[in-house]
Amino acid sequence: MAQSSSDQRGTEWWRSAVIYQIYPRSFSDGMGQDGLGDLVGITERLPALVDLGVDAVWLSPFYTSPQKDAGYDVADYCDVDPIFGTLADFEAMQRKVHELGLKLIVDLVPNHTSDQHAWFGAALAAPEGSAERDRYMFRDGSGPHGDLPPNNWQSVFGGAAWTRVTRPDGTPGQWYLHLFDTSQPDLNWQNSWVREQFRDILRFWLDRGVDGFRVDVAHGLIKAEGLPDYTPPADAGSMGGTLGLEPEIEGHAEVDPPTPPYWAQEGVHEIYRDWHRVLEEYGGDRVLCAEAWVEPLAKLANWVRPDEMQQAFNFSYLETAWNGPALRSVIADSLTAFSSVGAPSSWVLSNHDVVRHASRLALTEDNPQGHGIGPKTLGKPVRALGLRRARAATALMLALPGSAYIYQGEELGLPEDVDLPDDARQDPTWFRTNGTRYGRDGCRVPIPWEAAKPDYGFSHVQRSWLPQPTDWGPYARDSQEGLDGSTLELYRSLLSARAANGLGLGEIEWLDGYPDDVVAFRNGAVTVIANTGEAVVPLPAGEVMLSSEPLGVGALPGDTTVWLRG
Ligand code: NOJ
Repeated sequence: MAQSSSDQRGTEWWRSAVIYQIYPRSFSDGMGQDGLGDLVGITERLPALVDLGVDAVWLSPFYTSPQKDAGYDVADYCDVDPIFGTLADFEAMQRKVHELGLKLIVDLVPNHTSDQHAWFGAALAAPEGSAERDRYMFRDGSGPHGDLPPNNWQSVFGGAAWTRVTRPDGTPGQWYLHLFDTSQPDLNWQNSWVREQFRDILRFWLDRGVDGFRVDVAHGLIKAEGLPDYTPPADAGSMGGTLGLEPEIEGHAEVDPPTPPYWAQEGVHEIYRDWHRVLEEYGGDRVLCAEAWVEPLAKLANWVRPDEMQQAFNFSYLETAWNGPALRSVIADSLTAFSSVGAPSSWVLSNHDVVRHASRLALTEDNPQGHGIGPKTLGKPVRALGLRRARAATALMLALPGSAYIYQGEELGLPEDVDLPDDARQDPTWFRTNGTRYGRDGCRVPIPWEAAKPDYGFSHVQRSWLPQPTDWGPYARDSQEGLDGSTLELYRSLLSARAANGLGLGEIEWLDGYPDDVVAFRNGAVTVIANTGEAVVPLPAGEVMLSSEPLGVGALPGDTTVWLRG
């Protein structure tokens, strides 16, 4: 049976786009003040992304923020933090993005603000029960004296999800909810004033010309009535979703996992229908992409119904092991689920919240490391195996119909930095769990551009907010440019062949007759065969377009993907 990425209702750019995630603090330090990446650095380096062959960029937050969660704690949604530059720098960057023929997606963080946001300051200053307090999730404590949290919810980053405030007279007051860090109070999305503010924020950036938004915690805005107690399963993933991070998942859940009272509540959908209408006012194929850790895929598809968002990250795919049957099943389920609502499937293997796939794919059942890898981790992933699988996995992903996301540095084959010293760590997860979870810093280390320069050319001041490993020279962009077989050149070939053959808008036809370890399909004129096992598999006749590793004569080695013509 042929499967496409949507019902072909349209050919909007986002249905098939390859979107490159820029994590601004780790991309390029153009202002050269502090060893932190910034907007000037992004503008300077944009030609490298055109050369790579992507269609769009998504920028993680660059807004005014005390940076307690690397910018996902926003203190002003309509300004640029001085560490990243100014609004004028944003405009210059956006102009360049568009001149180069790329689209620009920015991050929107609606579930919570920073505790330094003026709204939260006003809520703390105002009396209990006031309109200002009602913009957040304040509640009285439980227990005879109200000195216990209102319920048992835990923060995604560890520890209680509630913090108690002190009244002006010094006595203990109410508690506020923060599903993430204490510095990230959750907004009350039942409050119409909050909704109005976010319409204005969307318009602020749409007026400036952005092409869309990646929506943070898009499954979390509405909480269940009465805020009932809930204990998550032990294997909830690093973002606390309904997904686990088991590397050896054999297919996905047959039954719907229980819905936590703070995720995936029905009420979120009317918010996205409202935002859909705001985007429509601007025309031009704008996009909303949901960061929603929701399973099963059939449920996630509700975020991309025709009058809601356009895309949702496919984290079920990201979390699938390098395993033939599991991959076939998640690909088929993805195409079925998303196309049932006329949306494209999305595909993603890495981002700033998960172990880089060049390391993750070499993990085993015994050391899943869903919460990060560090110096004391036992059984660290073997680099060569991880990279080999990552290259094969990317060659499989980029052959699939729909839209694909690439996280900065994966085109260089960067592994997770598993040796970051404890005193360099910045992820709130590390602090809130007293160092029992390493968290996400290992995938956020500034990327290497030029092998011979200090800081690999990342910063003009030879500093980097997270230390870079000393052995990253061979991964630097300039070490790989023009080098036959390098990961950078593999990505360039994949992206150019994907575009030339229209794979993003294609449909796949499964090919039978291969061992179980093999994922094989045809997408238009291209036959794709991914061998996830160790045994060599005979190749059918056909001209080899590209392969993730050198091939034997008529033979596909293990952990290798090939694209054949015809
Ligand atoms: C998801 C973001 O990707 C992550 O980096 C952040 O910590 C949480 N949401 C909270 O905003």
